[in-house]
Amino acid sequence: MEANMPKRKEPGKSLRIKVISMGNAEVGKSCIIKRYCEKRFVSKYLATIGIDYGVTKVQVRDREIKVNIFDMAGHPFFYEVRNEFYKDTQGVILVYDVGQKDSFEALDAWLAEMKQDLGPHGNMENIVFAVCANKIDCTKHRCVDESEGRLWAESRGFLYFETSAQTGEGINEMFQTFYVSIVDLCENGGKRPITNSSASFTKEQADTIRRIRNSKDSWDMLGVKPGASRDEVNKAYRKLAVLLHPDKCVAPGSEDAFKAVVNARTALLKNIK
Ligand code: GTP
Ligand code: MG
Repeated sequence: MEANMPKRKEPGKSLRIKVISMGNAEVGKSCIIKRYCEKRFVSKYLATIGIDYGVTKVQVRDREIKVNIFDMAGHPFFYEVRNEFYKDTQGVILVYDVGQKDSFEALDAWLAEMKQDLGPHGNMENIVFAVCANKIDCTKHRCVDESEGRLWAESRGFLYFETSAQTGEGINEMFQTFYVSIVDLCENGGKRPITNSSASFTKEQADTIRRIRNSKDSWDMLGVKPGASRDEVNKAYRKLAVLLHPDKCVAPGSEDAFKAVVNARTALLKNIK
């Protein structure tokens, strides 16, 4: 039996699963769970101390699912408590705050922490990840846009949701899709079902869009050395255009990346004799 496979009493009927929340402190993990389970929102920040545990029941198709939710503290101080709880998990709610770039950039470190604690026999492929871009109600402070978050999530085969624990937007949809995906995973022998979006663009396209977003100038964006010749600029441009052309690439953010590349090439060619 696969390491992450849930305990099942009777095939087709009840199922017991374990889900955990992950992400930096104060991004809204506990509020998302509270919004779904208790239909309420608490605006005062009450940091989770170590772990909060809860049980809930949900119905997915003909199955009754008993869900054990482990809501983890995001503060680094609680690492020693968290690391006990990563194993035997079927689903992860991975949260960042759209107004806190750091919390988005920390997602990779959260995956790394989980991977390390699962050890060499742990398999992250058997786990459903639902990435929540939370606090979308705070529109004024938003600094991580939808395409950036969606690209990060979908290029890894993760689900992506825009959520607000405050207004409730996206929360029910997230949990419903999350639970259905976990049941699909269990029925698929413990393998994560391939989502349409994750199959529709390549890792190279996703990595290139991310690189373009983070590039420091037009040279960097085209991936050529400062002072490169017209030929070199055009060659680099053609390669990126083929990869990112809107007719060929449906990855989130590809249109903006394509436009940025066109503009970078125009700007560089103006100044090269
Ligand atoms: P730790 O337990 O410390 O890891 O934090 P957490 O991720 O569980 O954060 P928590 O759910 O406690 O929320 C942190 C703060 O953000 C609280 O003051 C919440 O009221 C607020 N908050 C959570 N979700 C939202 C949201 O969607 N919108 C807004 N505006 N505030 C939110
Ligand atoms: Mg909490």
